[in-house]
Amino acid sequence: METTNCADTIIRLETWCTEDRQINCILSASGDTLISNHTLCFSMLAPCEVAEGAKLRRMTASYVELHFEQDVLGAAQSQQFSLRYENNRTPANRSWLPKGAYLRLQDGCILPVEIVARGIDPNFTTKLPEQQANPSSRDLMLTPTPQSWEPSGDQLHMGDGYMLDASWDAEEAATSVLAVEALAQRNNIAPFLSQNGVPLRFIRKQTLAEDAYELTISPKEITLAASTAAGVFHGAITLLNLKLICGGTIPCGQVTDAPRFEWRGQHLDCARHYYQPETLLRLLDMMALLKLNRFHWHFCDDEAFRLEVESYPQLWQQSGLRGEGRVVPGVFGGTAGPQGGTYSKAFVKELVAHAKHLHIEILPEIEVPAHSWAALQIHPELRDSVDQSNEVSVQGYLNNTINPALPAAWTYMEALTKEVAGLFPFAHLHLGCDERPPAAWTKSPAIEKLKTEQGFATADDVQGWMMDKLAAYIRSLGVRPAAWEEASKGANGGINNDAILFSWTQQGPGLEAARKGYSVVMTPAAHAYWDLAPSADFNEIGLNWAGNTSLADSINWDPVPENEPELERKIIGAQGCLWSEVVQQDANMETMMAPRILGIAEIGWATRANKPDAEQLTQKAACYAKLFSAIGWHQDVRD
Ligand code: ACM
Repeated sequence: METTNCADTIIRLETWCTEDRQINCILSASGDTLISNHTLCFSMLAPCEVAEGAKLRRMTASYVELHFEQDVLGAAQSQQFSLRYENNRTPANRSWLPKGAYLRLQDGCILPVEIVARGIDPNFTTKLPEQQANPSSRDLMLTPTPQSWEPSGDQLHMGDGYMLDASWDAEEAATSVLAVEALAQRNNIAPFLSQNGVPLRFIRKQTLAEDAYELTISPKEITLAASTAAGVFHGAITLLNLKLICGGTIPCGQVTDAPRFEWRGQHLDCARHYYQPETLLRLLDMMALLKLNRFHWHFCDDEAFRLEVESYPQLWQQSGLRGEGRVVPGVFGGTAGPQGGTYSKAFVKELVAHAKHLHIEILPEIEVPAHSWAALQIHPELRDSVDQSNEVSVQGYLNNTINPALPAAWTYMEALTKEVAGLFPFAHLHLGCDERPPAAWTKSPAIEKLKTEQGFATADDVQGWMMDKLAAYIRSLGVRPAAWEEASKGANGGINNDAILFSWTQQGPGLEAARKGYSVVMTPAAHAYWDLAPSADFNEIGLNWAGNTSLADSINWDPVPENEPELERKIIGAQGCLWSEVVQQDANMETMMAPRILGIAEIGWATRANKPDAEQLTQKAACYAKLFSAIGWHQDVRD
């Protein structure tokens, strides 16, 4: 059968989920064209099996290529097949349906495929009705909730914004208040400062802690007291928020405020999905509006290494773009591509400068030893060439783990960590260490030799040694190490070196690490992973391996157990994470974060006694829906 000219042919893949966990698909083509000998390429959310109707040609993690026994496709001949997720996983929502489909013909020609998903409600919305905070209410409706708010009962009509009076010295104004004005301008919520605004007076109050501030709001003027630029910034952010959520009239009274935790983070996975640089700048602006002060930048993983490093340029040159004929196929909606991008050093400089103005520090992450599939395709010398472990990661990647028994692995890890840490003035570096596949290193002679030499019994001992050695190396450069919770495993106590551990599966591993003396940031999936679907509704997007994470879940927890108050010293904060498997476009980030990011802002800043409950947070979220809209933050984009 001959392939005719397909230019006018529309090829469709209709998809739907059945009651018995299958995903049924019909591939069809319009018009008179007959297509044959084609391969259907698409991505799923996790590894799949073909239940019937097609043959698997290739599967790389969740990227799938199928061909068909009855392989003629035309107006009268469609192809029907069914898929099933491995391990009996139930497709939970629209994210679990096929994405990024295309046909590859025998001559290499690529044809786009339009996916039509059945069972999706086009009118589905979870956007909260926008509400304005009532300035006469006793509740300030501000997120995060300040330590103390004493309303006087009066109101202030501010007109256009706030006007700095003569009490401001140039430095305070430039480093803090003008940064808030610039943020307002960039995000279409200006003016913050205005010649016609209400007078804003500054008092330097040395007794206040670094991030603390006080506001005295009276009907005719406002006084902001702080001891540092950070305190002034937070006070100014509060004033900008009040203007936005209350409209032109804000309640009078006294705000006394300081954060509960030093680490109030937001993470973004830019490996699974490439976000435009502009999106990252906008995310930092949103973080600053919510007094979040740590951006955890995850730019390398199995699917990509996106930072333009000089030490290993092929890493980003070969993995930054994915799709047909590339090192990384079109996973997670990648299509034939090429799709994706990389972040230049010039952009890193811009991001660092942007963060500095917003009093945010950036924590970059280099993932080792696992989650390194893309790196290992490009640098196979980082694996033992005779290793027969054939480890498969939970995400379905085969052989994704760097081998620390090889000198080449140390050359790689030391060069990369040194170069990357050197780009970020925070002088902290996250070394990954999550989800090493259980089979990794089990059949590597080089690892066997290392174990014998060092007296290690288990792979966790090898990992603990490796993390400790790498952490000691970056410590020698003046950089504080950080890693996921697994890095505390191993007979030597794990990574050591005053590392910060991120507790992600639950809080338990973080509590154990804190008891051992580690500093810990809590980011438990069930409360702080924005890639988990907010509800079980099929119209949502998101994963569900730790259940759903609702707005209520984002606030219904505490990083420190009440019966172990001594851990408050070691648990240095909390963080929201957004992994990007379900992200098809940048705006999905906004829909997945808003409004749940309000929960982590409260958890990180508010005291245990005055943080809102789920109902109060929902009321605040309605006020912040107005703010999200005002800055163009999409709350309802899922495709
Ligand atoms: C993780 O979610 N694998 C840290």
